[in-house]
Amino acid sequence: MSSLVIVGAQWGDEGKGKVTDFLTDKADVVVRYQGGNNAGHTVISNGKVYKLHLVPSGIVQNKPSVIGSGVALDPLSLIEEMNELKMQGIIFDKLLIDKRTHLILPYHIKLDQLREESSARTEIGTTKRGIGPCYEDKTKRCGIRVCDLMMPEIFKEKLKQNLNNVNTELKKIYSSDELDFDDIADKYLNAAKIIRPYVADTSIIVQDYIKSGKKVLFEGAQGTMLDVNYGTYPYVTSSHPTTAGVCVGAGIPPTAINEAIGIAKAYTTRVGKGPFPTELLDKTGDYLREKGHEYGVTTGRPRRCGWFDTVGVRYAARINGLTGLAITKLDTLTGLKEIKLCVSYKYKGEILNVIPPELNIFDECEPVYEVFEGWEQDMSSVRSYNDLNDNAKKYLSRISELCETPISIISVGPDRQQTIINGKFFNE
Ligand code: GDP
Ligand code: IMO
Ligand code: MG
Repeated sequence: MSSLVIVGAQWGDEGKGKVTDFLTDKADVVVRYQGGNNAGHTVISNGKVYKLHLVPSGIVQNKPSVIGSGVALDPLSLIEEMNELKMQGIIFDKLLIDKRTHLILPYHIKLDQLREESSARTEIGTTKRGIGPCYEDKTKRCGIRVCDLMMPEIFKEKLKQNLNNVNTELKKIYSSDELDFDDIADKYLNAAKIIRPYVADTSIIVQDYIKSGKKVLFEGAQGTMLDVNYGTYPYVTSSHPTTAGVCVGAGIPPTAINEAIGIAKAYTTRVGKGPFPTELLDKTGDYLREKGHEYGVTTGRPRRCGWFDTVGVRYAARINGLTGLAITKLDTLTGLKEIKLCVSYKYKGEILNVIPPELNIFDECEPVYEVFEGWEQDMSSVRSYNDLNDNAKKYLSRISELCETPISIISVGPDRQQTIINGKFFNE
């Protein structure tokens, strides 16, 4: 039995796509277990750039790739993404979509947009892809699933009922146009024909992989600080981008998880609203944004940038039971004279070493920094830990110590090759 979970240890965009692709080489199957096309994962292989939103990154290496039941699936967006990837030469004979996966419908997207724009509600800074409203319907027990879409009469019946309710809300609360039943039914039933060959009860398949000793790689989207329970609520997404999310989102027991690698950038970024203690609203922040190309893959929004926060990543290590950390984009820090590392917070004169659940307290936390000397080394072709300069090693070693987790991967560039391996994976 050998299964490894990839989770974001910050606020998303840590480089999960790159690390998933790197580990896919060793894996037999790659499984997405939560989130939807709010995700944007970049894989660069042999100079080719692949941008993935719903399709598991394993597809780039033509490995079996599963969309688990915990995903919020927009089938129209999936088909668009598949078509783009097919044009880049990707083959889709090994994609599987779970029957229990909930569908994002046009009314979810509309409601996400209207709620974000409404002055009566807190603006979260969502990706406006309908993620929140889809997960709401799932827990409200009126969601429509992939298995419903496979049965046109059942799909139409559920759509009609939901649309009646949603159109009332659109008209009465938002004074917005109603959505048309026939238009949605046509588009979705056409999409059903395209995705039908991929649909399966995937939890059984993934469990069989695990039982037969195959290497299963679970690819998280978003990050721990965006988890609906453990993130900076309400400035979070609506799923569980944590190792616990793997069990419900892929249909496997907790005892089947062996390893969990937390992905963290060598600094921090965040898109959307919400507290961010180490945020840099100065030239260094701009430097990180430009040098690190910190613009969203899904929405193109500039990412907020700041120093590495060990309080946050230690929290992620504990919540996820991390067995290792992958530190990405170390190369982006090259050229800075000094690098700061947040080691604790100060709140009203008191030192805090944990993330407070109260958002107003977290908002007022001031980072306490240790300062490290920077480096000038071009690390893009470094492939061994020993070849890193001493200042970078000191910085990494302190991160590992404060986050109470060994660093098993260091990424020094976006390409699959630009990776330093500092640990073992899949019980090797
Ligand atoms: P994800 O959502 O966690 O998969 O991350 P994104 O793909 O949204 O953002 C990470 C960005 O950093 C992408 O453009 C990657 O190509 C890039 N990237 C990943 N690792 C490295 C690295 O080590 N160095 C540099 N310079 N870029 C990296
Ligand atoms: P990957 O997988 C970074 C953020 C949004 C917003 C909040 C809620 O590429 O790391 P949502 O649309 O999910 O309701 O938005 O979550 N967010 C992400 N930020 N990376 C992501 O995915 C994200 N997916 C959602 O910006 O703050
Ligand atoms: Mg991303």
